[in-house]
Amino acid sequence: MTQTVGFIGLGKLGLPCALAMESRGLQIVGYDVDPAVAGYVRDKRIPYLERHVDALLAHTQLRVVPDVATVVAQADVVFVTVQTPHRPEFEGRTPIPDDREDFEYGYLVSACRAVAAAAAQQQRHITLVVVSTVLPGTVGRHIRPLLGTYVCLIYNPFFIAMGTTVDDFLNPEFVLLGADRHEEDDAVGRLYRQIHDKPLVRTSIESAELIKVSYNTYISLKIVWANTMMEICEKTGADVDVVTDTLAQATDRIISARYMRGGMGDSGGCHPRDNIAMSWLGRRLDLSFDLFETVMTAREQQTHFLARIVQKWQRLSGLDVCLMGTTYKPETNLELGSAALLLAHILDADYGVRVQTCDPFARTDLAIAAALSQPRVFFIGTRHEVWQRTVWPTGAVVIDPWGYIPDAPGVVVIRIGRKGALPAVSAL
Ligand SMILES: NC(=O)c1ccc[n+]([C@@H]2O[C@H](COP(=O)([O-])OP(=O)(O)OC[C@H]3O[C@@H](n4cnc5c(N)ncnc54)[C@H](O)[C@@H]3O)[C@@H](O)[C@H]2O)c1
Repeated sequence: MTQTVGFIGLGKLGLPCALAMESRGLQIVGYDVDPAVAGYVRDKRIPYLERHVDALLAHTQLRVVPDVATVVAQADVVFVTVQTPHRPEFEGRTPIPDDREDFEYGYLVSACRAVAAAAAQQQRHITLVVVSTVLPGTVGRHIRPLLGTYVCLIYNPFFIAMGTTVDDFLNPEFVLLGADRHEEDDAVGRLYRQIHDKPLVRTSIESAELIKVSYNTYISLKIVWANTMMEICEKTGADVDVVTDTLAQATDRIISARYMRGGMGDSGGCHPRDNIAMSWLGRRLDLSFDLFETVMTAREQQTHFLARIVQKWQRLSGLDVCLMGTTYKPETNLELGSAALLLAHILDADYGVRVQTCDPFARTDLAIAAALSQPRVFFIGTRHEVWQRTVWPTGAVVIDPWGYIPDAPGVVVIRIGRKGALPAVSAL
């Protein structure tokens, strides 16, 4: 018989992952407090760009039900993928304030409490799988005490990036299962064996909580490090791509090549805010050194370094400035935690440079044709593929922190921290 899996919270993480599970032969029953979600499933459209989701929605049998009790009645394993938000000023698209806070756990607590109450009421033994991102110690403090005798608890954070959620879920490096007591052949392990054969790493709940946020914050650290190299290269004449590409070959003693490229600061809905939350934890634990604070300060100061380059070229040229790309990464319409928007904010607030924005995926000041209708200082805020093929107006200045925009006649191309010309785009 086909196994039914429950989902509480069908947002940007829950819905794509539920559809991915369904694509591996599982039946899905889900509940979301937001009535709009049932509409996305019915109309087969979501309001954000997420690879494969439209195709999966076209054929889905996923049932969105009206309450948690109906999910619990039909599923032995219930995934909770509700939001654990942070204050908007901690998101990373504006300078960070001095105070620190933990994430907000009200949504998670209320969802887990509802699952436990339904299991007790129906006298059904189920496995509750918490996926939402939390700081170490949270599950023990807020979730474990709620559960009662009918619920077996697993903490199973996903290591996925928005935009590639389905692929990342189906092809992970490993699956992390935190539990108080592990059994070899538990319901969640069996479930994953139906989906793929990637390693199942079993740890305590506390270790799993720390592994999740460490994964994200370590990526931020790598990016800050690569951007430090970029600034040194800009100021000394070395070439950042040569430096990072060479070091990336030291995969034994140093590091993989992923995220090791000079560019904008780390962005997105998770990484900047996770660093800030970990900095809150660092203060609470009286850590001898708050590395997370340092990473976020470096991210902001490196954005000031870019702002000074923009200001210099704006003054030299007398041209208006246009930020090309505001989304947090290429080919998405999400601007969560965007370092490009942080740059726009800093340019306006601290350098008196007014910036217009242009992004083919987001709602911005200018459409591409209008942006390119006159020479400007164009700053490449997001590494969209389209900018590589763009014909820039004669007299323009193009500032590229990613090092991928080719030279063009009549245009000054500044590839920050890189030396030498790039081949014309037809040869790339
Ligand atoms: N989106 C990602 O790529 C991603 C990646 C890794 C981890 N995470 C973590 O996963 C969690 C969810 O993230 P998200 O981006 O999907 O958030 P989201 O805001 O897009 O979705 C959360 C959904 O949960 C629903 N919800 C809230 N309370 C509920 C309740 N009591 N019952 C039923 N539904 C409820 C909301 O209506 C919403 O649709 C967060 O903790 C986030 O940090 C997200």
